[in-house]
Amino acid sequence: MNLDWNTLGFQFRPAKSNIRFHYKDGAWDDGQLYNTYDITMSVAANCLHYGQAIFEGGKAFRGRDGKVRIFRPEANGTRLNSSARQLLMPEFPVDRFVEAVKTVVRDNQEYIPPFESGGSLYIRPVMFGVTPQIGVNASLEYWLVIMVVPVGNYYKNGIKPVDAMISKDYDRAAPHGTGHIKAAGNYAASLISSKQAKDHHCPIALFLDPGSHTFVDEFGTSNFLAITKDGKYITPKSDSILPSITNNSLQAIARDLGMEVEYRKIAATELPELAEVAACGTAVVLTPVGRIFDGDKIYDYHQTEIGPVMKKLYDGLIGVQRGELPDKHGFITEL
Ligand code: PLP
Ligand code: COI
Repeated sequence: MNLDWNTLGFQFRPAKSNIRFHYKDGAWDDGQLYNTYDITMSVAANCLHYGQAIFEGGKAFRGRDGKVRIFRPEANGTRLNSSARQLLMPEFPVDRFVEAVKTVVRDNQEYIPPFESGGSLYIRPVMFGVTPQIGVNASLEYWLVIMVVPVGNYYKNGIKPVDAMISKDYDRAAPHGTGHIKAAGNYAASLISSKQAKDHHCPIALFLDPGSHTFVDEFGTSNFLAITKDGKYITPKSDSILPSITNNSLQAIARDLGMEVEYRKIAATELPELAEVAACGTAVVLTPVGRIFDGDKIYDYHQTEIGPVMKKLYDGLIGVQRGELPDKHGFITEL
């Protein structure tokens, strides 16, 4: 494949194929690979008007040994179903989901970046309702499409610290809303905060809990984690954030390193006291946060490079993903 693997960044590029399943009359079909990115649907399709659209994000990695490792696809399948349940969309069996991921990754092997590039094949499943309708009801027909995109770093400087800005004017989610699922609409809602942050030269927006705006929730495309001055791994407990598979994996790695992990509410007033802060997620992996802008206050973590504890966690995660470290927790599905 004639791609410049070292400068991929995180942007859409067509690959060879995507796999599609159609749900009609109460059942999913057997699915098939398509060599086009186009799809035909009615302009009255539910997903366009009433937002029945959910998605997932996963990755496959080529190892030094040439093997292809897919990171926790069953966790993506399980979370897709929790998103589906909340938006009254049909579930897709997790074992079939994992098989479908394997099929599409196998068919697109030439798009998996080589080990040396540090890149990966991003796996993007998306499910949407396509029944033409004008009354607000759940769709009767759906597509589940799993596409793949070769990617490098999400932020242009890799694991160099980025600045974050607390979103003061807008929330991405509502209390008891859809913040805990991967609903497409959550991302539309976060765009304005991301724009405000970027206008202040901060690549990421940080959201507080939408109920009281006093606790840390998460970033627009990733979870929040931090290391306290006494070396604990802390990450917010909130019902308006996405349960991140990366965060869950990093917690296991932190425990393996003998660290204490606290999954609890984190008051925004704790932010100035933290030793290291990072964003974590499939796309951003683990990206250190250099400073947080909170109105006219700035919390500076004095990081020009990734901090020592975050570096250990990062190395532990990518080591397993890239097949360089033992897979103690069964995170890897080999192709
Ligand atoms: N939070 C949000 C809002 C996200 O979009 C993502 C990305 O998927 C995450 C957290 C991280 O989740 P995961 O580690 O499962 O990719
Ligand atoms: C992911 O990390 O997989 C995401 O879905 C985040 C983002 C690109 C929307």
